[in-house]
Amino acid sequence: MAELQEVQITEEKPLLPGQTPEVAKEAELAARILLDQGQTHSVETPYGSVTFTVYGTPKPKRPAILTYHDVGLNYKSCFQSLFQFGDMQEIIQNFVRVHVDAPGMEEGAPVFPVGYQYPSLDQLADMIPCILQYLNFSTIIGIGVGAGAYILSRYALNHQDTVEGLVLINIDPNAKGWMDWAAHKLTGLTSSISEMILGHLFSQEELSRNSELIQKYRNIIARAPNLDNIELYWNSYNNRRDLNLERGGDITLKCPVMLVVGDQAPHEDAVVECNSKLDPTQTSFLKMADSGGQPQLTQPGKLTEAIKYFLQGMGYMASSCMTRLSRSRTASLTSAASIDGSRSRSRTMSQSSESGTLSSGPPGHTMEVSC
Ligand code: BEZ
Repeated sequence: MAELQEVQITEEKPLLPGQTPEVAKEAELAARILLDQGQTHSVETPYGSVTFTVYGTPKPKRPAILTYHDVGLNYKSCFQSLFQFGDMQEIIQNFVRVHVDAPGMEEGAPVFPVGYQYPSLDQLADMIPCILQYLNFSTIIGIGVGAGAYILSRYALNHQDTVEGLVLINIDPNAKGWMDWAAHKLTGLTSSISEMILGHLFSQEELSRNSELIQKYRNIIARAPNLDNIELYWNSYNNRRDLNLERGGDITLKCPVMLVVGDQAPHEDAVVECNSKLDPTQTSFLKMADSGGQPQLTQPGKLTEAIKYFLQGMGYMASSCMTRLSRSRTASLTSAASIDGSRSRSRTMSQSSESGTLSSGPPGHTMEVSC
């Protein structure tokens, strides 16, 4: 047995001269802990360099979870509350997480020189293959918010085979119409860039209530040393092209999608419209009560529950991993859940109200959730 262990270690990683197997193991463990703390990398792409932070150790046959944040935020200010939420740990321990920072949004990013041509959202989407190639991942499950949700959708439209699922929070797949532009220009006359971005992220009700969370994000954005870069990302978002999604048409998302929006969030109508353009057999729609504009910040527990459920529908969460609440919610599901990646595509329920009662429907129906 001892001999067998020694052979395995020698085969996996040759020992350095003078290194004992114990020391090698400790080094491996230290490297793994480092990975779990997040390691930041940058890759060069045809549109400039992009930075991303990787958490977790690779699991065979599993996609990476790849996140993309909204305007005014970076991966930490957008996703830390969700990914560090207690119940989220049982989900993320099964996946490597790749958190992309849009160019110039990473912590400590220098301000781009005057005249710098910031990538369009389509070009930001075209940077993602360079990241996946660098990390040697062939498929992802994407989680995006606002501009990040648009970027991941554009990526999925161009690379259908590499996207296993998408969680899209506050997506607006439409280009700005002239009415939106007029309103945007008018607001720009009286508001600062940071207030305009806050109006994109949060509901008017939240902004006037001015809770601690709003004060925190107002400070983060208004005092950001890279505010000029943020403005460039904001401009790219406002100049986005229409995704031209069409239910039953050629341009549609083929993977399972979970659309999420807070009730009274600024993008509620856009998400509802997006839902109407996607394949109902592949799409779940989650309208979250009491969450405002950023459900991943204000309701990480509810969102974690929904993500678990979504992944279970894709066969990636064993039901033993579900909390008691979600087990009772999902008791009537027909999905075959397994932790090893064998998948089934039946997500068949609708849910109503805070109490979380679920009723099973015919296979492949859109999930309407209001929790
Ligand atoms: C993660 O574990 O994926 C994570 C940790 C801290 C911030 C964001 C994400």
